[in-house]
Amino acid sequence: SILEMEVEQINKGKYEHYMQKEIHEQPESLTTTMRGRLIRGGSSKRKSVLLGGLKDHLKTIRRSRRIVFIGCGTSYNAALAARPLLEELSGIPVMMEIASDLLDRQAPIYRDDTIIFVSQSGETADTLNALEYALENGALCVGITNTVGSAIARNTHCGVHINAGSEIGVASTKAYTSQIVVMAMVSLAIGADTISSKPRREAIIESLLNLPEMKDLAQSLISEQSLLMFGRGYNYATALEGALKVKEVALMHSEGILAGEMKHGPLALVDENLPIVVIATRDQSFSKQQSVIQQLKARKGRLIVMCTEGDAAAVCGGSGRVIEVPLVVDCLQPVVNIVPLQLLSYHLTVLRGYNVDQPRNLAKSVTTE
Ligand code: G6P
Repeated sequence: SILEMEVEQINKGKYEHYMQKEIHEQPESLTTTMRGRLIRGGSSKRKSVLLGGLKDHLKTIRRSRRIVFIGCGTSYNAALAARPLLEELSGIPVMMEIASDLLDRQAPIYRDDTIIFVSQSGETADTLNALEYALENGALCVGITNTVGSAIARNTHCGVHINAGSEIGVASTKAYTSQIVVMAMVSLAIGADTISSKPRREAIIESLLNLPEMKDLAQSLISEQSLLMFGRGYNYATALEGALKVKEVALMHSEGILAGEMKHGPLALVDENLPIVVIATRDQSFSKQQSVIQQLKARKGRLIVMCTEGDAAAVCGGSGRVIEVPLVVDCLQPVVNIVPLQLLSYHLTVLRGYNVDQPRNLAKSVTTE
């Protein structure tokens, strides 16, 4: 009805689509996600993390033999982005499971496992079924959702809400960045008893507090039709999630590739026509990504390089397209790096004339297997 259309326009504010609004909202949604949880305090200048829904379970989590992340779609990718930090700060092996695959395999789950269920809606059938299965097997179950009172929030032993605000666009954007930030805070809380990593933890907290100030990256939009995305380390997840966004809203085939696997197949696809996004921001993978760029150039690859502000000339020597992003601490770089790829998929979709908020065949919350 006309009334519904007007209400929708009011909800979207100055934006044409929810996805566009939600991408631009990220400085605010990240602030809300962190509100009251990061303490930069007192005369001692101590920095710490307080997660009310988790604090009584931290000891049990620290004693667990492994931590398993379970999710679907974008929520799985967010967990993948957080995995290196959780491993580093907890010293516990962290496994990744796609919910449906865990169930297909009836994979072993033990009483001394901590299982973290990541779901924006908290209602995804596959994730919920995996939760039931983990509960039956006696594991400690932790929920990370955006929906208070959702099935996953209710049925887990403990958890953290991401507080990103409601997300209307079917393709998840602001929930993804808030999920990564929450899992970074969870990693900090789990690792909080280790004295040797204190300086590292404090540096991450400082960087978290500065995240929402990240520049609006809309201007750096590119309109090419990107297909391959190469990432590694902290930004392997960025490549998968960037490709998923392009796939689900722009209805274009796109593939996220672990750059370390390039020579084991994907290199055969490289020619002067296929656009390739290479994520080469500054972290311990940087020099390896530089050599990936050299190898792609040697094969006349059509490159779009994402690099740290000021690195453009050094990284691609003036040829190819460049997306520059601000530098943040390595483990949070995925929060910044995904934004231009979200914008890229948004604009590609609009240019191609597709429905950006409700892509064909997809649903916001998938409550059947
Ligand atoms: C659906 C949505 C995706 C989402 C996935 C997992 O496929 O279209 O955007 O990432 O479900 O949803 P969840 O609510 O569990 O995060």
